[in-house]
Amino acid sequence: MNAHARAVAVPANAAMPDQDIRWWRISMGEAEVQRVMLEMRAEHISGGPVTRELETLIATTLGVPHVVATTSGSMALTLALMTLGVGPGDEVIVPNRTFMATAHAALMLGAKVKLVDVCADIPALDVSQVEAAITPRTKAILPVHLNGRAVDMIALNEIAQRHGVPLVEDTAQAFLSKGSGGYLGTQSTIGCFSLGMTKLCSTGQGGFCVVHDDDLLKRMRRVQVHGVNDTLSDAYEMLGSNFKFNDVLAAIGVVQVARGPEKVAHVTEVYETYVNGLADLDFLEIIPVRIASGEVPLWTEVCVRSGRAERTRLMRFLLDRGIGTRQFLPDLDLSPYLGATGEFPNSRRFDAGGLFLPGGPAQPIANIHRTIEALHEYARHRSV
Ligand SMILES: Cc1ncc(COP(=O)(O)O)c(C=O)c1O
Repeated sequence: MNAHARAVAVPANAAMPDQDIRWWRISMGEAEVQRVMLEMRAEHISGGPVTRELETLIATTLGVPHVVATTSGSMALTLALMTLGVGPGDEVIVPNRTFMATAHAALMLGAKVKLVDVCADIPALDVSQVEAAITPRTKAILPVHLNGRAVDMIALNEIAQRHGVPLVEDTAQAFLSKGSGGYLGTQSTIGCFSLGMTKLCSTGQGGFCVVHDDDLLKRMRRVQVHGVNDTLSDAYEMLGSNFKFNDVLAAIGVVQVARGPEKVAHVTEVYETYVNGLADLDFLEIIPVRIASGEVPLWTEVCVRSGRAERTRLMRFLLDRGIGTRQFLPDLDLSPYLGATGEFPNSRRFDAGGLFLPGGPAQPIANIHRTIEALHEYARHRSV
């Protein structure tokens, strides 16, 4: 579960009475079902031709040379850092607002996480604070494109190149989203993506890495299979694990990715419906996504300006009307095992007020209108 929820949350796609609005609706249809049956009948169940087909389809879609499919976005990050040789004694720079998977990938390899605050207006890594966090032990910088919002990759690449540190983009929430340099996840040493349940294109669980360099690809393919150089190898050449994907889920993936543009259009309509419908509510701020520059609003995120207590009241109010929402997961520095130091004032504002409104590639627009009405009702009730 990583759509950033706590407490008063309704599980994604939980069995609910018809009139209830789930906070997230996936779009999974007959085409996916048919393709899975076809591949299972052909006994394509482990990493094989369908996984290769998915990798090729994604590579063509994003215009990149190589894609390596794996079991989740978390494992894509771990595979990426393992391929880059991140280990004990190294430091990895991570924004303070992200899903913990970004930091855990580094921690699992024995590296230390250095947290940097996000911008004041959007929860995206504040690139101007990155350079001060770089030390001789920095082994990677992990910008996170939260909810399709682009981190400034041009400025970040300039800093990374100056210090000779690789960039690994956490693009788990930003498949098909664009920044000034094109598709997010394609402007760094390795881009990592998720195909999890609450993502634009979903295989239930799944993920992939985008790689440009041929040697790095070879290394990643070995790390992916416990360090052997191909299936006929009789030597283990390096530390690795089993990071392989499987053809049953890849069968869902090829259909989902082909339907990407349709999903982009729908989540954008959801977001714009909220923007138009909530413009006059000043207790709430829609955390902006730049549609005009190609960013894809995977979710519609709002911030309750007065903070935590009112957010809880609002979630309860909506839930009483059958409307599920999710609150943001906590800032990373609040987890003592990361050993963070410093202040993160911008992150804290989002931590206290952040909330996901109902959405998703199959969320009926009528549900968005019902949610907007309920938010207006709350606003009237609030001012009494
Ligand atoms: C920013 C971020 N990074 C990494 C992940 C991990 O992806 P997965 O759930 O596929 O492991 C997620 C999942 O939501 C995420 O939001």
